[in-house]
Amino acid sequence: MSTSPAFAIRQADIADIVFLARHRAWMFRDMGHLPSHLEAPLERATAAYLREAMPRREYIAWVAEGGPDPATAIGGAGVQLRPILPRPRPIRDPDGLELGPEALVLNVYVEPDWRRRGVAEALMRRLLADLDARGIRRIVLHASDEGRRLYERLGFVQTNEMRFEPA
Ligand SMILES: CC(C)(COP(=O)(O)OP(=O)(O)OC[C@H]1O[C@@H](n2cnc3c(N)ncnc32)[C@H](O)[C@@H]1OP(=O)(O)O)[C@@H](O)C(=O)NCCC(=O)NCCS
Repeated sequence: MSTSPAFAIRQADIADIVFLARHRAWMFRDMGHLPSHLEAPLERATAAYLREAMPRREYIAWVAEGGPDPATAIGGAGVQLRPILPRPRPIRDPDGLELGPEALVLNVYVEPDWRRRGVAEALMRRLLADLDARGIRRIVLHASDEGRRLYERLGFVQTNEMRFEPA
């Protein structure tokens, strides 16, 4: 477990699903993307997904604990590991192929009272170190306005992804 004076980061387990699901709903709420009547349904649906995906190691999460009760999760981050079709590696490794899996970073969330103390950066650095240790090199995410500077600081760059928006 890595520590700072005020909080600690650890890998999550299924006992943390209640926090992980709540934080996902709060993340969308804080980004202004979730009407209040959908908070509870999103939390329930997320918990149901995580109960399946975490034991399969398809979803891996980390939590930050802090405050007077050390078991209180005050933030978290996760990755969904997805198979990819083999593809050439980017310029840095022109002779190699990328075989996957790809890690999609999701659910980066820190409770409002704990923001701007480096919690998200510590979560992300731990996530990146653990993925590196697993040999996972392809790591993608969709940044919120609030998160963008953090990800840029960690080395994430803009890509050319597009999304279809049905009329
Ligand atoms: C985005 C979010 C996860 C950031 O969490 P956080 O713990 O506040 O992030 P950090 O503390 O690591 O970094 C945030 C800022 O605080 C600054 N900071 C870090 N430690 C600090 C300290 N001790 N004193 C003052 N500032 C500090 C960082 O430099 C950074 O500044 P910048 O935004 O100008 O680059 C959080 O605001 C959040 O949950 N937002 C709502 C949901 C969301 O948008 N999630 C991201 C989805 S992609």
